[in-house]
Amino acid sequence: MRTDRILSGIALALFLLVPAGASAQQSEAAGKCMVCHKEKSPGLYQQWANGAHAAHNVTCIDCHGANKSDADAYMHEGAQIATLVTPKDCGRCHEKEAAEVQASHHATAGQILDSNDAYLAHVAAGEPVAMTGCENCHGSKVQIDPNSPNKLSKKSWPNSGIGRINPDGSLGSCNACHTRHAFDKAQARQPEACGKCHLGPDHPQKEIYEESKHGNTYFTNVDKMNLEDDEWVVGVDYFIAPTCATCHMSATQNQKPTHDVGQRIAWTLRPPVSKTLENAPAKRENMKDVCVACHGATFADGHFYQYDAVVRLYNDKFAKPSTELMKMIKDKKLLENPAAFSNDIEWTYWELWHHEGRRARHGAAMMGPDYTWWHGMYEVAQHFYFKMIPQARELNDPEVNAWIDNLLRNDPMHSWLYQETGKLKEGIKTGDMQKIYDKLFSETIK
Ligand code: HEC
Ligand code: HEC
Ligand code: HEC
Ligand code: HEC
Ligand code: HEC
Ligand code: HEC
Ligand code: HEC
Ligand code: HEC
Repeated sequence: MRTDRILSGIALALFLLVPAGASAQQSEAAGKCMVCHKEKSPGLYQQWANGAHAAHNVTCIDCHGANKSDADAYMHEGAQIATLVTPKDCGRCHEKEAAEVQASHHATAGQILDSNDAYLAHVAAGEPVAMTGCENCHGSKVQIDPNSPNKLSKKSWPNSGIGRINPDGSLGSCNACHTRHAFDKAQARQPEACGKCHLGPDHPQKEIYEESKHGNTYFTNVDKMNLEDDEWVVGVDYFIAPTCATCHMSATQNQKPTHDVGQRIAWTLRPPVSKTLENAPAKRENMKDVCVACHGATFADGHFYQYDAVVRLYNDKFAKPSTELMKMIKDKKLLENPAAFSNDIEWTYWELWHHEGRRARHGAAMMGPDYTWWHGMYEVAQHFYFKMIPQARELNDPEVNAWIDNLLRNDPMHSWLYQETGKLKEGIKTGDMQKIYDKLFSETIK
């Protein structure tokens, strides 16, 4: 434990117990929260009592205390409180973490209401599903209902989405990762803390991690991970295996822990065609700095050389052509039904990039070979050649057909369809294909 942090923590806690302008009544009520809740909600009380906050005298009112003017404040047992405890509230004591969260992509995850995904959920399913599905991961816009006992509309709370839009203007919810009321950092360092959201057909990071050497080494040695250590520097405090937090958030010998999960990633794998991010080389260096705690630099470089080429291969071979084809079909208004997502081919294209294409890219990024190939590029290829192309041909448009013929016959990445298998096997190692691969590999991020 770092004494400086603890001392300043106690000072802060004491200061906040008697905030300037707080009434004597509020201070008196503060002492009663624990007494009554110990009886009325003993589980909740124990979570708090056994955590770091109780040990440092941070009590119910330090987090739940509110000003009368707050939109979600209400009177409860003699005190002004709010049920929500937002990043802004936590940030009074954890300024660095709160600022990093606000600067991260996590904070904006609630701004998805205008996305195609949201449209699809609303039309193909309906509001209650968007609420309990999408918003449970991404975050709701918390609405005030003056007639509710805690002033929170039941349509927006309970919710602990990662980009929740709070009435005080802050974004996110710290207990998306730091489960209340323990708020234990050891818990957040484990892959399960991310796994509520980072899983499933369109972003199976949890499953990829579980199948990787990193994941299986972690799960078979979890008792040797020293998860409770105060500082948790990779290679120094633990060395068995990395977790999600190790690679994306926790400290190395050269980097402090960060709550901005974008600091170490060079690509975004979310859109149909992947793009490198701003300052990609520096972000790549941040990530490599994690790897070299346990691996040689050449080994880590080799991984990224292979991974970058997979992303570029996916982009050039399937993502760009399928996106261009879809655009041509839409521009020419060839689809039977006017509404978005009301035609087969739109679903095919959607799953190609949003599900299969992401799985392939994520598999390669995080060492999950089954996701790179069988759940990934295998399905991309199958659905491109044997679903999307036939569905496009059914539209019987001469220009579209000519475009497809040209791609499949003249692009060396696709012309295998028309070649004899025996000859092809040799051809893969020589000629046009090799030039294409050489180019893909030469463009690794440095
Ligand atoms: C009144 C000040 C205060 C508030 C408000 C506060 N904390 Fe803390 N927090 C502390 C102190 C003091 C510690 C113990 C010293 C340390 O680890 O920094 C602590 C520790 C922690 C830890 C580390 C626990 C561990 O396992 O070592 C986490 C995580 C945490 N707080 C999260 C939060 C979150 C999330 C919120 C808002 C929901 C919050 N805190 C609100 C003061 C506060
Ligand atoms: C005399 C008992 C008693 C005292 C004192 C008390 N509470 Fe409660 N509190 C309850 C009960 C019972 C509930 C659940 C029923 C309800 O929601 O009204 C509750 C509910 C809550 C809720 C959640 C409401 C919701 O949105 O679901 C919060 C937050 C809370 N209390 C915090 C506090 C804080 C902070 C204090 C100290 C200022 C405090 N309580 C003092 C009995 C008490
Ligand atoms: C470190 C800050 C912190 C402290 C200390 C704290 N809470 Fe909370 N509490 C939270 C957070 C965060 C939530 C979730 C609210 C949200 O989603 O914004 C919450 C939610 C609640 C809820 C409603 C949710 C539920 O599960 O029913 C109750 C009731 C509650 N707290 C009571 C208490 C009581 C009683 C204490 C003292 C024993 C306490 N809290 C101490 C941060 C804190
Ligand atoms: C299980 C949790 C979960 C559910 C449910 C979920 N998402 Fe997501 N969503 C995520 C995660 C995690 C990512 C980021 C994946 C990545 O970076 O690889 C994401 C990414 C996105 C993106 C891309 C954002 C960008 O910056 O490019 C959009 C848009 C989106 N989701 C919308 C939705 C909508 C709308 C729904 C409901 C139909 C939904 N999501 C359901 C977890 C979820
Ligand atoms: C994406 C998951 C995630 C979210 C969201 C999150 N944290 Fe954390 N937090 C972590 C992880 C992982 C660690 C442990 C880092 C390490 O290994 O030291 C941590 C550590 C902490 C610590 C301990 C810092 C230390 O050095 O002792 C505090 C305090 C903390 N978080 C506060 C917050 C606050 C406040 C918020 C909301 C503004 C928040 N966290 C949101 C994952 C998260
Ligand atoms: C409550 C859901 C949730 C939890 C828990 C969660 N995330 Fe996320 N995460 C998301 C969503 C949603 C996005 C996509 C945001 C967007 O694109 O708008 C995302 C994006 C990311 C990104 C991409 C960031 C960028 O800049 O592009 C990384 C990396 C990430 N999360 C890592 C983690 C890690 C590591 C953990 C656990 C320590 C974690 N997340 C916990 C929902 C979550
Ligand atoms: C061994 C280190 C390592 C581990 C462990 C790891 N990741 Fe990653 N992660 C990476 C690398 C490398 C990338 C790709 C970075 C780049 O594109 O430059 C990445 C990319 C991501 C992305 C961005 C995807 C996008 O769509 O842009 C998310 C989200 C993510 N990881 C979440 C997780 C989660 C959640 C876990 C745990 C279940 C996890 N990671 C475990 C190294 C790791
Ligand atoms: C905490 C230590 C640790 C960290 C950090 C770490 N790894 Fe590993 N890594 C391992 C261990 C242990 C293995 C398993 C070695 C074996 O196969 O015997 C492994 C295996 C691998 C493999 C081989 C996978 C296979 O299936 O053969 C690759 C590739 C890899 N790591 C890349 C990385 C990259 C890239 C990073 C940084 C983003 C990284 N590792 C970070 C410990 C670590």
